[in-house]
Amino acid sequence: MDKEAEELLNDLKNRIDYFDLIGAGSILCAKENVPVQRISTAAEGSSAESVINKRILSCQRCDLFKTRTNAVPGEGNFNADLMFVGEGPGHDEDIKGKPFIGRAGQLLTKIIAAMGFDRKDVYITNVVKCRPPNNRNPQLEEMEACKEYLFEQIECIQPRVIVTLGKVATDFFIPGSVGISAMRGKFHLFRNIPLMPTFHPSYLVRQQGNRELRRKVWEDMKKVMALLSK
Ligand code: URA
Repeated sequence: MDKEAEELLNDLKNRIDYFDLIGAGSILCAKENVPVQRISTAAEGSSAESVINKRILSCQRCDLFKTRTNAVPGEGNFNADLMFVGEGPGHDEDIKGKPFIGRAGQLLTKIIAAMGFDRKDVYITNVVKCRPPNNRNPQLEEMEACKEYLFEQIECIQPRVIVTLGKVATDFFIPGSVGISAMRGKFHLFRNIPLMPTFHPSYLVRQQGNRELRRKVWEDMKKVMALLSK
């Protein structure tokens, strides 16, 4: 079997594992007038999270796989009420395979702590799961190729609130959004889930002396906390 066919087969098997896991296996093998028999291909003990992660780690849907060191699926609690979505892994994240662990990530960790949570209480991920070279913005076709993973993560986690970090992530959920300054501070809806855009922590890092920016992010997070406490 050639390499491409093998990759396709692998991807298909991972998808079947995923559908089987979410209880849709019967759809895949249901035939007219034949008693439904669920195919059981999900590895024993696998969770939705590990099935999705496995697919992300071996993904070659766009060219970003060629330059990545590691794909970065996301981390945290797969039952979290609160989900943070950034744009894409940077240098440190690419090396370690974990989201938001560089300078911007350390600031995000502090914001999460100030909200009364630990990183492991929330789920942190990105729109694209592989680092764009030189930290450029992810391109439309890269986001398009990757979006199924993020949508599956949201479907499984079913967060009560999504916080989008920066313009790229906000635009991804709300196409044609009018810029982060105008979008932040208000809840928007994505598939009925309240979504709060705020400034990207790396912008805060770059504008280190700007207390006004930090105050605005904190105002946004207070609204998120108020909603979660209901
Ligand atoms: N910036 C992002 O958008 N995501 C990361 O994971 C790190 C930096």
